[in-house]
Amino acid sequence: MKKDMFRLDGKIVVITGAAGFLGRMHSEAVASFGGIPILIDLEQSNVDDLANELNEKYNVTSCGYSVDITNEQNIKDNVKLITKDFGQIDCLINNAANNPKMEDDGQVNFSRLENFTLEAWNKDVSIGLTGTFLCAKYYGFQISKNPNGGSIVNISSDLGLIAPDQRLYAKKNVDLHLQPVKPVTYSVIKSGLIGLTRYLSTYWIDQNVRCNAICPGGVENGQPSDFLNEVSLRIPMKRLAKSHEYQGTLVWMLSDASSYLNGAIVPVDGGRTAW
Ligand SMILES: NC(=O)c1ccc[n+]([C@@H]2O[C@H](COP(=O)([O-])OP(=O)(O)OC[C@H]3O[C@@H](n4cnc5c(N)ncnc54)[C@H](O)[C@@H]3O)[C@@H](O)[C@H]2O)c1
Repeated sequence: MKKDMFRLDGKIVVITGAAGFLGRMHSEAVASFGGIPILIDLEQSNVDDLANELNEKYNVTSCGYSVDITNEQNIKDNVKLITKDFGQIDCLINNAANNPKMEDDGQVNFSRLENFTLEAWNKDVSIGLTGTFLCAKYYGFQISKNPNGGSIVNISSDLGLIAPDQRLYAKKNVDLHLQPVKPVTYSVIKSGLIGLTRYLSTYWIDQNVRCNAICPGGVENGQPSDFLNEVSLRIPMKRLAKSHEYQGTLVWMLSDASSYLNGAIVPVDGGRTAW
């Protein structure tokens, strides 16, 4: 058995939504296993700050680029820039997503299906699905040009596998039209990413490009205790994830340790979808 099969030394790993809550954890995981995280997000200053942090802490040559993944030309230009700066791309983590608030205006709640605007639908889909398609099209194609291919990881969700339990978000003594819900786009996008994963897992397999998906459960991040108690009842492990608990699965999927893993949809959810 190769001891270093989990190492990512020298691998150029593009991470979308890198400056977000989990994107930062993905980036650290890559850097700590010797990979070179290429940080993609909307604000240049956010990815610059993270790149500096990672370079200092892990002695890597991480670099950040401001790219809007809904903009095809932006992505095309970025692939050229990365290949000029780093020579190639080995891996892609499709992690970026829109994170809309479950808002109300005192009259209606906009996350509810009957109030959900076409504008909100289009915005969510343009990032979560169309943006991911564009990243696969350009970064993925670049990976397919490597003699040894590479690995694509899509970040779906446990809610790509099961329906949201809307009772979890319900507020006491609030009329139905004001009750917040998990928006329809979340389920549709996360299920769509599972289809995209299967598609990509066969598409460039002759070029050795593998593609797998992680379906993370929710992460503990200062939610109210009522919510945490309720959601814990639905999870065999009786808790949400800590933010570092997807790093191991991610490194495994990116590295040679998973060399025969392809088209896998892996729930990492404390067993929530097993019930
Ligand atoms: N946090 C959780 O509990 C959880 C659970 C399951 C799945 N996920 C999934 O994990 C991923 C990361 O979640 P998170 O909690 O870190 O979200 P987040 O909102 O903190 O991060 C998302 C990042 O994507 C970036 N982004 C948005 N639009 C973009 C665009 N057009 N171009 C480039 N970047 C863009 C944002 O700027 C942000 O930094 C998402 O796909 C999310 O659905 C999260």
